[in-house]
Amino acid sequence: MNQGKRVGIVGAGNVGATVAYSLAMLGSCHEIILRDNKIDVARGKALDMSQAASAVRSHTVVKVAETMEDMVDCDVVVVTAGSPRLPGMSRDDLLMTNANITKEVVEGIAKYSPNAIIIMVSNPLDAMTYVALKESGFERSRVLGMAGILDSSRMAAFIQEKLGYGGGQIRASVMGGHGDDMVPLPRYSTVAGVPLTDLLSDKEIEEIVHRTRHGGAEIVACLKTGSAYYAPAKSTAIMVEAILKDTKQIHPCAVYLDGEYGYDNVVSGVPVMIGANGAEKIIEVTLNEKEQEMFKKSCDSVKELITTLEKNKFFDGEK
Ligand code: 2OP
Repeated sequence: MNQGKRVGIVGAGNVGATVAYSLAMLGSCHEIILRDNKIDVARGKALDMSQAASAVRSHTVVKVAETMEDMVDCDVVVVTAGSPRLPGMSRDDLLMTNANITKEVVEGIAKYSPNAIIIMVSNPLDAMTYVALKESGFERSRVLGMAGILDSSRMAAFIQEKLGYGGGQIRASVMGGHGDDMVPLPRYSTVAGVPLTDLLSDKEIEEIVHRTRHGGAEIVACLKTGSAYYAPAKSTAIMVEAILKDTKQIHPCAVYLDGEYGYDNVVSGVPVMIGANGAEKIIEVTLNEKEQEMFKKSCDSVKELITTLEKNKFFDGEK
């Protein structure tokens, strides 16, 4: 338990609210501040969650920020705000819309919670993490994106389903961007320490890899009106807890690469040691030729989005 810690959450939709709920139930922090343009909805959820916290004897209080000004001195701020893709909208339209939202939100964070660590959740995740980094002016260790824990958890769940055993003992590894080009790594996935490649055939592993890459879309197809939120929220809460508790544990997260893996000026998912200072260390895993090729493809997709932002003069006037 960390007395005195404050977590801000921008966007009180399904993901944001579920992150808040998860943290409140764990008593991970002293205060959670929810910010959403639908202030009454945020207020209702905050009341409801504070009451749930009382029910489990958690000390966490959930409050509402009417404006970013109310979100002061947070230790961590989670950003889930963003528009979902609407019919007729191109990927680039969504990119520009959410980049503009991220820019505005991050300016508020930099102003009112200048020492916070930012966790980006909005899509397209890697590009939005890049925008948050550039617009906040924060050092790269304080701007992380949530995706790797989610994608690895999805892969682990699919491995368990395929095997029919090993639940709770599976460590799956996924690197790269949070898109169709993500890089599931069966070679670095194990069940109770046993390599996945010793447990399943190449064909079975390929099926798991394919399903992992499309794990988000599979849920969207079921829900019809929205996307996944339990696993995205829990994955985000794990990152928040790692920071608040200074666990120094390794989690796959989206971070700005500055030479690691041979890339720079791009955000991608890699194993990161997380502590009180955010992404305290980037771990460089040895990738074989095929894995390197997949990682390159994934980084190139993120770079393309960044180039689109640049072409649209998004970063002009940057500090
Ligand atoms: C997901 O993968 C929408 O990025 C979200 O479920």
